[in-house]
Formats: sequence, structure tokens, C-alpha cells
Amino acid sequence: MLSLVVHFCRLLQLLQSRKQTTSPRNTVHFILYNPPQNYRELVTNRRSSASASCATMEYKQIEMEDCDQVLEHLRRSFFADEPLNKSAGLCQNGSSCIALEAHCVEAIKDRMSLMAVDAKVEGCCKIAGVVLNGILRPGNAAKSLKKLDSTSDADFRKIFELLHGHSLKYNLFEHFAVGSIFDVRILSVDSGYRGQGIANELVKQSVAVAKANGFRLMKADATGIFSQKIFRSHGFEVFSEQPYDKYTDKHGKVILPVEAPHIKMQQLYKRICEGDKDDKEQPH
Ligand code: ACO
Repeated sequence: MLSLVVHFCRLLQLLQSRKQTTSPRNTVHFILYNPPQNYRELVTNRRSSASASCATMEYKQIEMEDCDQVLEHLRRSFFADEPLNKSAGLCQNGSSCIALEAHCVEAIKDRMSLMAVDAKVEGCCKIAGVVLNGILRPGNAAKSLKKLDSTSDADFRKIFELLHGHSLKYNLFEHFAVGSIFDVRILSVDSGYRGQGIANELVKQSVAVAKANGFRLMKADATGIFSQKIFRSHGFEVFSEQPYDKYTDKHGKVILPVEAPHIKMQQLYKRICEGDKDDKEQPH
């Protein structure tokens, strides 16, 4: 009888310890862009595909009031680490870049950007990663290219002449006959949170936002081999590319000497059709 009671107690302990180690479900808040109607709020519970260490990550839409914190995150991550920014020496880790910040805020205004927030960090809402998504319309690239003439930041100009010039040359609007494109502009994960699947999750959820808002086409200018791999794993395909060693000035000098292993920029696209699966629908 005693051994039966002991056995029962052990079983109870085991069950309790399992309950404690079970990951909580992540809360995902989307406010969806739904032109021309008002925004709708959709709150879903979703288990993250990220590793166990990301179990407390919350994914939510970036609001205008989050701008300061998002820019603070980007200054420490994307501004210095993204391959083109790094090659141009656009900014040191933590420093600001007015032109690039304006570009980021423009995307946030479209209200389709997402952030991963570490819920474990109490009181201060630590941003672990962001994806800034904007709406691209015909004529935007030409306008942005023209605007670069009045930019005093020569490094910013070098980078965006490449990106906008490429978009103009390899025109997705003409090819796919669409009137707007869901543009994944900035993908960034804090160095302390990399390798845990956060970028993957941000792209996966961006596909869901694009789909829910009726976009037929997504695009991303992926500047490094890791971001290229991430987009391809979510069903994006290469439309055009620019090898960095072939992007030269009139004297044949490479304009953006990007460090290995990154060798080219890829303009990737994803067509959104009804019934598509969001995630990992194509092999790498
Ligand atoms: N080395 C090897 N593989 C890598 C690396 C790396 N440094 N970084 C990512 N990967 C691979 C992973 O193995 C994973 O592959 P899997 O799905 O087959 O397992 C995949 O890429 C996704 O990994 P995540 O963990 O989701 O990526 P992470 O959260 O670490 O973020 C990112 C990757 C965004 C590129 C991050 O390193 C970063 O912020 N870099 C600086 C900014 C930047 O370059 N952003 C992209 C520019 S392009 C654009 O913004 C549109």
C-alpha cells in the first residue's frame, strides 16, 4: 500500500514539473492594413516556430508610438550590420542616420510592420527584431531616386541609388501587372537574439499580413546571403540580381565593396495566391 502511495506521489510530481516546463503560447497581435477601409484588429494565439529560448517572444504590429524604440533597435542592429550599410560605413553601431531613419518611418506609417518583443525582459519591452513593410506603388522608385539628388549623405545615396535604380530597371509592376506591392524593406534582429528563428518568424508573419490585406505580390531586396536564404525558404523567388563586384563607377571602381560571404543583392518576389501555405512552401 505504502509503495503505491509513493508511486502516486512521484507521478504527481512528474506531471507538475512537465506543466511548468511547457512553453506558453505566444500572443500575436496584428492590425491589418486593409485599403481603402479602416484597419481591423486581429488578435490570435499562435505557437512560434522559433526555438524554445524564444518561447516568450511576442510578435505585434509596430505603431507610430513605437517608432523611437524601433529606431533605437535599428541603430544598434541594422544600421551598422546590414551588408550595404557596413560596406558604405553608413553609421557606427548605436549612432543615428537621419536619411535612413526617415526611410524606416515611411514604412512604419503604412502600418504593416511587425516587431518581436522579448516578454521576459520586464518593464522595458525589449525589441528583439523587426520587419518594416511598406506599400510600393508604380512611380515610387523613380521619385525616391530623384529625391536622392538633394540628399547630403553620400553613403546613403550610394546605397539607395543601387536599390532604387535596380527596381526601376527590373520593373515588377510591368512584369506582374499589379498596382501595388507589399515591400519587405528592413529585416533586422538584435545580435543577442540571432540564430533563434526570429527573422524566419517575422517573414512568415509578414506573408500572413500581406495575404490578409489582399496583396497579390510581395518583394524584398535582400542584400546578404542569410536574408536571401530566409526569403527563399518562405517561397520568394529571385527576379533579378546585382553582383556587388559588377556595380562600378565610370572608372571601373567598385562602389560598394561588400564583405564576403555576401556577393550580390537579390530582388526577390512572392506571388500570393488563394490557398497558398505561408511557411516553407519551397525548398531552399
Ligand atoms: N550564419 C549562418 N546561417 C544563418 C545566419 C548566420 N549568420 N543568420 C541566419 N542564418 C540562417 C539560419 O541558419 C536559418 O536557416 P534555417 O531556417 O534553415 O534554420 C535562417 O538563416 C533564418 O535564421 P533566423 O534565426 O531566423 O535569423 P536571425 O533571427 O538570426 O536573423 C538576420 C537573420 C535578419 C539576417 C540578422 O542576422 C540581422 O539582423 N542581420 C543584420 C541586418 C541584415 O542584414 N538584414 C537583412 C538585410 S535584407 C532586408 O532587410 C530586406
